[in-house]
Amino acid sequence: MRLGRQVPRIVEQLHTVFPAKRVKTTPQVLATWGGDWTRSFPIAPSAVVFPETIQEVAALTKLANEAGLQLVPSGGRTGLSGGAVASHGEVVVSFERMNRILGFDAADRVVRCQAGVVTQALQAYAAEQGLCYPVDFASSGTSQIGGNVATNAGGIKVIRYGLTRDWIAGLTVVTGAGDVLELNRGLVKNATGYDLRHLFIGAEGTLGFVVEADVRLTEAPPPSRVMVLGLDRFADILKVLAAFQSRLTLSAFEFFSELALGKVLAHRQLTRPFEKPAAFYALLEFDAAAEEAALAAFEDVLAAGWVGDGVASRSDAQAASLWALREGITESIAAETPYKNDLAVRVSAVPAFLDDVDQLVAEHYPDWQVCWFGHIGDGNLHLNILKPAGLSVDAFYRRCHGISPNLFEAVRKRGGSISAEHGVGLLKRDFLSYTRSGAEIDIMRAVKKVLDPNGVMNPGKLLAD
Ligand code: MLT
Ligand code: ZN
Repeated sequence: MRLGRQVPRIVEQLHTVFPAKRVKTTPQVLATWGGDWTRSFPIAPSAVVFPETIQEVAALTKLANEAGLQLVPSGGRTGLSGGAVASHGEVVVSFERMNRILGFDAADRVVRCQAGVVTQALQAYAAEQGLCYPVDFASSGTSQIGGNVATNAGGIKVIRYGLTRDWIAGLTVVTGAGDVLELNRGLVKNATGYDLRHLFIGAEGTLGFVVEADVRLTEAPPPSRVMVLGLDRFADILKVLAAFQSRLTLSAFEFFSELALGKVLAHRQLTRPFEKPAAFYALLEFDAAAEEAALAAFEDVLAAGWVGDGVASRSDAQAASLWALREGITESIAAETPYKNDLAVRVSAVPAFLDDVDQLVAEHYPDWQVCWFGHIGDGNLHLNILKPAGLSVDAFYRRCHGISPNLFEAVRKRGGSISAEHGVGLLKRDFLSYTRSGAEIDIMRAVKKVLDPNGVMNPGKLLAD
């Protein structure tokens, strides 16, 4: 889309759908709403609009089809793959004024939300009903339900509770053609053919807008405990996981490296969980009722020599401060413009895959800081390459992009995914074929053509133009 002299015309067209105060074009608004947590893509939308109703979203989409506008859906802008970045004069559609919880049915345990409801607000609402929305991540105070659906967000409790997809009982969407579809309507059972709801989950806004969601809630969890363990060898991490899982059910099993811990300690001015540094750390969460079993498992892993030291929470406050060591990683490395890898393999393939990755890192990134962490209990590894001071962002990204094929070849060899939970967006788009076959990509394109025939939705994301 061409910018410059076009903008007044676009704004005039947008005023046929929105009152002037909900069409914004100031440089500050464009810079804020035109991007996400990535810092490497140009930000250049032509306008930002703030719909309040489904009808407005549908009217805007129809207008976009008629007038040749392109639309970028925008939630909490916490994405890490550039999925909500507008670089080419697109109109950004922010859902922050569609942030209401519309209803709850205790018999169904289903809550109906507008797309702009913040994850933490949904969690708090669930708690008020004596229930729980268990999908959780460090960005839950900012991320929105619509964005979570668009990327099928995972997070820190996946080994027990699954991903966003597992909690979505229904969706209302506006397709790229401007049609409003009610998908599955909160039903538990519905054997009537293709479940289009699941097409929109993880579609990164390329097929249409998620405008409302029926979200399932579950029982409030019992009190929990957290343990942090120090390990010297990466290879032992899955042995530790298996030792605990043979004795109790875990609700989280996260890992991070000493480098990652050091960044958080410095950034948040915290103290070490225990005195002796280790090369790697595992963070485990489990029900307080399983504490004895957890202590027995701790004795096992200590005796096996896999773990050197550990600490367990005795209160919710201590649990929160242990979690802060893991949840603070993303913000503590943000200033170093990390090149993010969000890789997944089956849990059974993790040990062999970690060996491959270890070798590749030593070979290709010998002098750079590489920050390892992730949700290793579900096979998801976050490998963050930190930009050396003095190197431009452009040069750094070009270098990392050049090395990525080596890493993604290892992912392909193990039957894994180049994006476990962050989405493909702009960052991983050129590498999609390492995880999806040519035939699959052709079908994805054909599906897009049906739902977004004129290509107005989130252009250039997920699938190359
Ligand atoms: C996390 O696991 O903390 C999130 O996926 C964010 C990140 O990878 O930076
Ligand atoms: Zn993650």
